[in-house]
Amino acid sequence: MVEVKNLGKEFVTPNGKITALQNISFAVAKGEVFGIMGASGAGKSTLVRCLNYLERPTTGQVRIAGQNLAELSPRQLALVRQQIGMIFQHFNLLKLRTVAQNIAFPLEIAGVPKEETQQRVDELLDIVGLTDKAQAYPHQLSGGQKQRVGIARALACRPRLLLSDEATSALDPETTQSILTLLKKINRNLGVTIILITHELPVIRQVCDRVGVLEQGRLVEMGSVTDVFNQPHAAATRRLITTSGLVPPTTARTKSAVTRSTLAAGEVV
Ligand SMILES: Nc1ncnc2c1ncn2[C@@H]1O[C@H](COP(=O)(O)OP(=O)(O)O)[C@@H](O)[C@H]1O
Ligand SMILES: [Mg+2]
Repeated sequence: MVEVKNLGKEFVTPNGKITALQNISFAVAKGEVFGIMGASGAGKSTLVRCLNYLERPTTGQVRIAGQNLAELSPRQLALVRQQIGMIFQHFNLLKLRTVAQNIAFPLEIAGVPKEETQQRVDELLDIVGLTDKAQAYPHQLSGGQKQRVGIARALACRPRLLLSDEATSALDPETTQSILTLLKKINRNLGVTIILITHELPVIRQVCDRVGVLEQGRLVEMGSVTDVFNQPHAAATRRLITTSGLVPPTTARTKSAVTRSTLAAGEVV
């Protein structure tokens, strides 16, 4: 579904160049829930924005369902983006539009006829459990409800891929659980591939199949969630686990822990 090769991103600022991402390579299979964790400033949001070319990578390639985004015309890129839903920490809802109108927004942009839009919005309201809030405005909703609207809007054009950037980071633990349950349901029932980016390790551990660890713009570790949490071999991963209050790993680095990773030879681990 997603293939990233040697991706790098530099920002040129008045104070010089910032290397936000360096030599990132990974692939995500169709139907997978892939997590990317890392401390603040590690490059997570930049990476997720490079996946749909909201940011153009400085080097390397992004392929979505086999298509190299660098080779697409603006029109083709817009079509690929319709296949990619995105949800955010601060929801980014349109405050002058009702819940139903927010969800309908991407369908309007895609030129879907009115009647079909109405029907699709009703389906989406049902999927996210907000049928009774269709006519409410964002300010009348709780954080969890706002994120449900964000999820419904992201699903409107039936994406094959959902990118989630800190989607539960502004929510309390109980609401986080309900949103994670919803994401898992969407993954299972609709077959949507999910890339979930967060600094919250319990979130990754709960819903992801595999995880990559970003540190200072580099992918320092990658593997199944079980392996990475039980036998982390990068110092950055160990630090993240310890500082997040999870049980610090005691198992020593093992050969399998090294070979399980698909990092390129010579990559920092
Ligand atoms: N538009 C930008 N211009 C300049 N620097 C940026 C820009 N976006 C992000 N950065 C820098 O890139 C690095 C990674 O940021 P970000 O991807 O937001 O990290 P994270 O989401 O992991 O907290 C940081 O040093 C940040 O300051
Ligand atoms: Mg971020």
